[in-house]
Amino acid sequence: MKGILLAGGSGTRLNPMTIPVSKHLLPIGDKPMVYYPLSALMLAGITDILVISTEADLPHYRRLLGDGSQLGIQIDYAVQDEPNGIAEALIIGAEKIGDDPVALILGDNIFHGAAFQSILEENVRNVHGCVLFAYGVKDPERHGVAEFDEAGRLVSLEEKPARPRSNRAVTGLYLYDNDVVDIAKNVRPSARGELEITDVNRVYLERGRARVVDLGRGFAWLDTGTPQSLLQAGLYVRTLEERQGVRIACIEEVALRMGFIDSDACHRLGAAMANSAYGQYVMAVAQELAS
Ligand code: TTP
Repeated sequence: MKGILLAGGSGTRLNPMTIPVSKHLLPIGDKPMVYYPLSALMLAGITDILVISTEADLPHYRRLLGDGSQLGIQIDYAVQDEPNGIAEALIIGAEKIGDDPVALILGDNIFHGAAFQSILEENVRNVHGCVLFAYGVKDPERHGVAEFDEAGRLVSLEEKPARPRSNRAVTGLYLYDNDVVDIAKNVRPSARGELEITDVNRVYLERGRARVVDLGRGFAWLDTGTPQSLLQAGLYVRTLEERQGVRIACIEEVALRMGFIDSDACHRLGAAMANSAYGQYVMAVAQELAS
């Protein structure tokens, strides 16, 4: 399965912070936001990833993540000129996707939960149609919303409905079979002028090929789009990390635990940042797992 990490957009709700810097490079705790969705793809076992951002911002992602080889993965880059909608990522990424299924994740989505890796593993294995992940929220009108019947079957998907039919938001992680490229190419722009991912998902729903996994109450899906939610996400991560003594979304640790790199390589990555607590953590994890 290929991975697409979409990190474009304009981030206007975070102005002026996002005038010189892409939203997804802002810090959440002691690491850039993009580490969280990147580690989610890696935890799903995906090692071939396309990062999409604006022409102005891509050089910063290249500087941060390189070609991915230091993490034992492959990272390529592509430009989205304008924020024409999330579904455009699937057209921009068509060549990268090739004949494979694909996981698309939004660069500002943070997932955290004990069972996340097993949920991912279970669902990336045989993707027939599309797999969406839903999460109960207080403000469903700001999201794509999934509605279910009494038997728990998905019956509707709506984008930012004025009157939501449920509180289940569709999160920014989508798994698709290879049909998605053709489906995305045939989606028409919405009234907002965007290629809406909800329209892509609705095609799968109409074909009876959309499945929704509910992330449940023991899970955190964090918003980072406003100054307040950015701060809250940072505090959430810091609280958990301080309490548990582990780091969330440390990409070097994920690479090591997934077997993409060995402990020597991991230690070298930490040593290159030894002046920071993050770098020291990477070295400590490498030492711990070396034995
Ligand atoms: P949004 O939060 O909808 O938009 P934004 O990030 O541009 O922020 P704002 O509303 O403050 O202007 O985007 C959700 C995610 O999808 C975010 O990670 C950016 C990404 N995105 C793109 O990369 N390209 C796009 O065309 C769109 C619509 C979003």
